[in-house]
Amino acid sequence: MQNLDDLITAAESAFAAIHDPNVLEQEKARYLGKSGQITEWLKGLAKLPPEERKSAGAAINRAKAAVEAALTARREALKEAALNMRLAEEALDVTLPGRGEAQGGLHPVTRTLERIETLFRSIGFTVADGPEIEEDFFNFTALNTPEDHPARSMHDTFYLLDENGKVAENVLLRTHTSPIQARYMQAHVAKYKDCETMPEIRIIAPGRVYRVDSDATHSPMFHQVEGLWVGETVSFADLKGVIADFLRRFFETDDLKVRFRPSFFPFTEPSAEIDVAFMKGALEGRWLEIAGCGMVHPNVLKHAGIDAEKYTGFAFGFGPDRLTMLRYGVNDLRLFFEGDLRFLRQFV
Ligand code: DAH
Repeated sequence: MQNLDDLITAAESAFAAIHDPNVLEQEKARYLGKSGQITEWLKGLAKLPPEERKSAGAAINRAKAAVEAALTARREALKEAALNMRLAEEALDVTLPGRGEAQGGLHPVTRTLERIETLFRSIGFTVADGPEIEEDFFNFTALNTPEDHPARSMHDTFYLLDENGKVAENVLLRTHTSPIQARYMQAHVAKYKDCETMPEIRIIAPGRVYRVDSDATHSPMFHQVEGLWVGETVSFADLKGVIADFLRRFFETDDLKVRFRPSFFPFTEPSAEIDVAFMKGALEGRWLEIAGCGMVHPNVLKHAGIDAEKYTGFAFGFGPDRLTMLRYGVNDLRLFFEGDLRFLRQFV
């Protein structure tokens, strides 16, 4: 049956020329649809003499199977081509180096703060926190700092503007972490007000503080770590012992040069400043003030509602930025906050 063979060839080449799956399905109807060519052939069987019908029917069915096979093969081929195209379009080049190659590291001051926390936790201190936008009361008044104290001047302190552009009353960027002492003592007293005895207070409070200051040992934003120990028998000897021990452990040396100088702070009496000498770097041998400290002033205890006859305490305020200078022999504190990676990478 020559015509059936032609039909198969025609169907095969028609399918092969098609690249769109929808068009292929339309083309299928021309052969296998209700009035498609194969279907017409099958209908024609009825008109044949009975003895020819069987072989003619078999030939038509073979042709039908061949057309169906050609159709299926083309469908598969188009599907595969579409998939290959998608794979090519969405290809990921897994051989490209990753973008996050650079290795991060902690800021040297962060490392110092973590170290200070670890060392103080090891002797029973906990870590307290307070707001950076502080109330005038906690920053000054509660710390026995009178209205006319120079630290309150516009010159030294960042005040905040209210919505009318006027200096906001009663709030400022805290100038030190000492207000956390006042806040903590007040909360502690409230917590134990119904108890016969008040447990000791033993805290450090690290944080950012702000002053209108900028030179090699001052930056407008810097860090402090406040310390406070209040109890029934706390003495200046304890203060010296705790600080000397901390410094030896912090710098990992027994022959650190440390000196306590008498000083004045409104919230301590007596007060001292602590200096440590550079052990390395361009400033080797030079003293650097690293902390203020003293016995908590009775007025500060009273402001918090603590019986100053029964309890005593010591307090200190470290400059962790300066401890970092000493630790690494850096001679300008502002370098830590300029964000220059060439400088900061040295400490990773
Ligand atoms: N707050 C003081 C300052 O910023 C530092 C200080 C001195 C803190 C003596 C203290 C202290 O707790 O007892 O200059």
